[in-house]
Amino acid sequence: MRGSRAAGSERRSELDEAAIQEMISLAKKASAMAYCPYSKFPVGAVVLATSGRMYAGCNVENAAYGDTICAERGAIMQMVAGGDQEISVVVIYTPTEVASSPCGSCRQVINEFGPQARIVSVCDNGDRIDAPLNDLLPGAFGPRNLA
Ligand code: THU
Repeated sequence: MRGSRAAGSERRSELDEAAIQEMISLAKKASAMAYCPYSKFPVGAVVLATSGRMYAGCNVENAAYGDTICAERGAIMQMVAGGDQEISVVVIYTPTEVASSPCGSCRQVINEFGPQARIVSVCDNGDRIDAPLNDLLPGAFGPRNLA
């Protein structure tokens, strides 16, 4: 969601819970937009860029199943198109009993723009993942490997 800004100058791990709650609220709205007739597993994601702007995405499935795009990657595509290339925080929401960890492909794409990003995943019963990307994708292959 362009134009929405987080409070405070430090937006990495010290992002306050109120800002995380705002992101969760936007991720819930995005999940309600998911196109997931095959899996019936809606996902919403919101990326906070270091500019303070937030970008939302939802999963968009395809009859050719492998052409499905995850919510996190959808949000990141929005981010890049919106002019940001540095991720501070990713919030994921699924209407489930267990918080969903981002898939391997999404971890890799998050790494491209936010190797230090904080990943927060929430669901409907208080279960929460809150970890640096480096914990989820240690030893990642990234841009510096090609430098
Ligand atoms: N999905 C996401 O949107 N993000 C993930 O990180 C994992 C999976 C979606 C893809 C598919 O539409 C559905 O969840 C079931 O895999």
